Order: sequence, then C-alpha cells, then structure tokens
Amino acid sequence: MKLERKLLAVEETGTAYKRRGVRRVLYAVLPENFYDRLRGWRLQFDASPLGQSFRLAGARYLSVISKSGVLSALHYAFFSREFDREHQAVLAARARHIRDVFAGRGNLYMLRRNVHRLEKGLIMKPPRPIFGLDKIGETVTAHAACLRQLRNGEEHMRTSIEWSTEILNAYFARVSDHPVVREAKARFDAAEAENGVPVTEERVPFVREQPASLPTIEQLEQLALYRRSARWFDQRPVPREVIDRAVLIAAQSPTACNRQPFRFEFFDRHDLVQKVGAVPKGTPGWLHQIPCFMVIIGKFEAFRFERDRHVPYIDGCLAAMALINALEVQGVSSCCVNFPDFADTEKRMAEALDLPPWERAIMCLAIGYPEDGEPVPFSQKLPLDMIRRFNNEG
Ligand SMILES: Cc1cc2nc3c(=O)[nH]c(=O)nc-3n(C[C@H](O)[C@H](O)[C@H](O)COP(=O)(O)O)c2cc1C
Repeated sequence: MKLERKLLAVEETGTAYKRRGVRRVLYAVLPENFYDRLRGWRLQFDASPLGQSFRLAGARYLSVISKSGVLSALHYAFFSREFDREHQAVLAARARHIRDVFAGRGNLYMLRRNVHRLEKGLIMKPPRPIFGLDKIGETVTAHAACLRQLRNGEEHMRTSIEWSTEILNAYFARVSDHPVVREAKARFDAAEAENGVPVTEERVPFVREQPASLPTIEQLEQLALYRRSARWFDQRPVPREVIDRAVLIAAQSPTACNRQPFRFEFFDRHDLVQKVGAVPKGTPGWLHQIPCFMVIIGKFEAFRFERDRHVPYIDGCLAAMALINALEVQGVSSCCVNFPDFADTEKRMAEALDLPPWERAIMCLAIGYPEDGEPVPFSQKLPLDMIRRFNNEG
C-alpha cells in the first residue's frame, strides 16, 4: 500500500524526529554522553539566578518587539522560523483558491460560502428587494464551473450543487430587476441548460421540524461529565458503521459560512495506526493498543484571504467535539492527540497522507472501546466564574 510504503520509507531514510539547527550540529560533532551532559548544564543554568535573569531579559525583548508589527515580522524572519509552515500553507492555499476561481476550475468552498450568503439574504427581515449584487456574478461563475466538474465525474459535488441550484433559483425569483442580476441570470440559465442536475430534495424554504424529543440538559450534563479522554482500550475493532454515523453527526456542526473546510482520515489497520499514530508524538506508551486513529485535515484552499487562516482549525475542532460525543454515546471512547507545529511532524504527515501544500493536519484522535474499569485522569475543570463573564463585569 502506498501509505505504508511512504511511512516505511521515511523511517528507513531516518528523516523522522530529526534534530535541527544548532542541536543537530552539536549532536553530530559531540560524543553522545557529552551532548547529554551539555543538556544537563543547560537545564541547571535555566534554574540558576543568572539563567532566570537571562530568560527574563528575553521576555523583555519579546514584550518590546510584540508592540510593533514590523519588529515582530523581522523577528520571525531572522530569529525564528516557527511560522514558516503556516505562512507557506496559507500562501499555497491562496494561490490554489485564486487559480480555482479565476482560471475557471471552480472552488466548491467559495461556491458554498456565496450560496450560504444568498441563503441568508433570502431569510432577511424585512425582505430586501435587491441583495447579493457584489457576489452574484462570481457565484454563478463558480456554480457553472462546479457543474462542469460534476459532469466530469466529481460526484462529491452533487449535493452542494443541488443546493446552489435551488438557492440561485430562489434568488433570481425573488430579487428585483437589475442589470447585474440580469446578466448573472442569463449565465445561470445557460449553465443549467448545458449541465444542470435535477434537484432531489426540497431545501427552500427550510423550516426546522422539532423532533418529538431532544436530549435533555440532564442528559447532556451526564454525557459531558462521563466523557473523559480514554487512553486504554480493549482490542475490539470499532465498527466502521459506528464511525460513519458519528462522522455524519459531526458534519452537522456549524462551520464559517457553511464551507466545511476539513476532512477526517481514519486508520483502523493495526500497522497503519502504529505508523500514523507515531507521527504527532503525543502517544508514547499507549500507542501500541490504540485500535483506530483519526487525523483531521484542514483544507486551507477554501479561503482566499489570510484573515480566515484560523477557520479550518475552528471548524475542524467544532466538528471533532461532535464526533467525540457521537462516538461516546455509542460506547466508543477517544483521546485527542495534539498535532504540534513541528517541521518533521508536518513533513511526515504530509508525506504519509499525500497532502498537497494547502492542506494541513490539525489534530488527531485515538479511538476505541474503553478498557473496562480502567481509571482515567480526573482532569479538574475550571470554575464557572473563571471561564464566564457577563457584560465585562467583575
Ligand atoms: C487539542 C488537544 C490535544 C491533546 N493532545 C494530547 C496528547 O497529545 N496526548 C494525550 O495523552 N492527551 C492529549 N489531549 C487530551 C487532554 O490531555 C485532555 O483532553 C485534558 O487533559 C482534559 O481531560 P478530559 O479530556 O478527560 O476532560 C489533548 C486534548 C486536546 C483538546
């Protein structure tokens, strides 16, 4: 299997967990016990009064440069390259997005965002005779491009396109006459005539039907208090139907402008869980018995501008919480696994999952049936008045 070969290749060539920079040079040139002694001295220095003054001087430097955008940028250009990977992913994603939009490929996430905005316009109170003029042209262009892609076999676009067809029909039926609207409508009609798809479900107007019963607040409390990060699992495989059901629930989570800029990659083959689960470094000691491992991938190409760079993290993790709860109520526990922004972890994960430069791993999740009666960390939570404030009071 391709993934397996890649992970093994990375391990064989020894590119995993590489020391970098000064540490790499020192590790290479110094005898091993001398390198460890050096580390010990550094820790002792940190704990000494001189070391503390040194660190505090560093904090003063950071505090001063943090007040200036230019100085901060210079610091991250010359003294630290920690933001490189995020910069690169955001730039690659912007390039991809702009190419999609302006070279006619169509960006499904942009279409979803624009359709969502039109959908909000349709329920505005009081109703507006004209709205969406600044976006309708590019929405129709994206709709037509995505229709072409659907016709070329990109079946995953179908439901989004059915939705955009319905909303665009409702929009054109509603808004008053305007040259911009007229031009967009003509292009919409032409695209529909050429590649249009039947709409199989009525989505507009959409009025929620309250189910016979919703979970009570007591049930939600019970779930919240019961759910704890479980790290020890019995070895029953987690049925894929259980996972799929949880994913479909997670997919109902709110996302910024309904783009859903993420996907979940699951592994339930022991050897692959061991390989992928070792990448993020948060599983030492308990990785060997994790039955299923999930990686959330953020799709940064959904965004054109830097200001939205946090949205894949937010959206992906809102959905992850719903997924965690949906697994828990089916008897399956989990533990989030951090995906720290290290060059080697990012590279390994990108190679393992074949990620293009505009996709990044966001967080991982260890999943399995919890070992019966096994203790979990208590994990004391913060008190209410520390995490909640009304009206700036107190
Ligand atoms: C983003 C994130 C990253 C985490 N990374 C790890 C990890 O790498 N290893 C680990 O054992 N637990 C990890 N955890 C689990 C936390 O330690 C745990 O959620 C926290 O202590 C609260 O405990 P609880 O989940 O049982 O309420 C992570 C949790 C989150 C939300």
